[in-house]
Amino acid sequence: MHAVGSAEELRAILLTRGCERYTGEPVSHLEHALQSADFAERAGAADSLVVAALLHDIGHLLTCHSGTPSANGIDDRHEMVAAACLARLFESDVREPVRLHVAAKRYLAADPVYRRALTEDSLRSLQLQGGVMSAEERAAFEREAHAEAALRLRRWDDAAKRPGRVTPSLTDFWSRVERLALRSSPGRNDHNQPSAKATQTAQSSL
Ligand SMILES: [Fe+2]
Ligand SMILES: [Fe+2]
Repeated sequence: MHAVGSAEELRAILLTRGCERYTGEPVSHLEHALQSADFAERAGAADSLVVAALLHDIGHLLTCHSGTPSANGIDDRHEMVAAACLARLFESDVREPVRLHVAAKRYLAADPVYRRALTEDSLRSLQLQGGVMSAEERAAFEREAHAEAALRLRRWDDAAKRPGRVTPSLTDFWSRVERLALRSSPGRNDHNQPSAKATQTAQSSL
């Protein structure tokens, strides 16, 4: 596990492992990423949220787990893996919706209508990820600066599992990834960078 150092490295990961089947769903990782980003773009989301949608599950591709981890009772903590690995490349408006997209599912799952619409794998992983949020957890989630963006991303994520759906290509989205990655040049004083403690906590859970 290492921090991703460039947009080119991200692209290589998506192109080499993106063809793998997305955990327990009828699409590949790359199809799921492209459909998520396409929904974000069609909803008029900011470029940072389109890029977050595109990369939200990159953590699955940065772990050693293959197949469907949840079927083996494993929570791969992919949202924390991704947030830690993207820390050098993107600012908080990309990183934080990615980090929070699993919490957003736990938040939304308090609604039985939302819960019933989840796929079998998503329901199974929900239990491994902590289940439905308590009232206290929901209140804490609502205080997150990027909670609203994470909830929007989550809705697109849940919908982005349609086999054969036509989307723009990775190349069509890539100029935005490169531009936003360039914002976080080395030495830049980003006040939104995660604290050392938060990064340490995430990495210790990998
Ligand atoms: Fe995810
Ligand atoms: Fe996803």
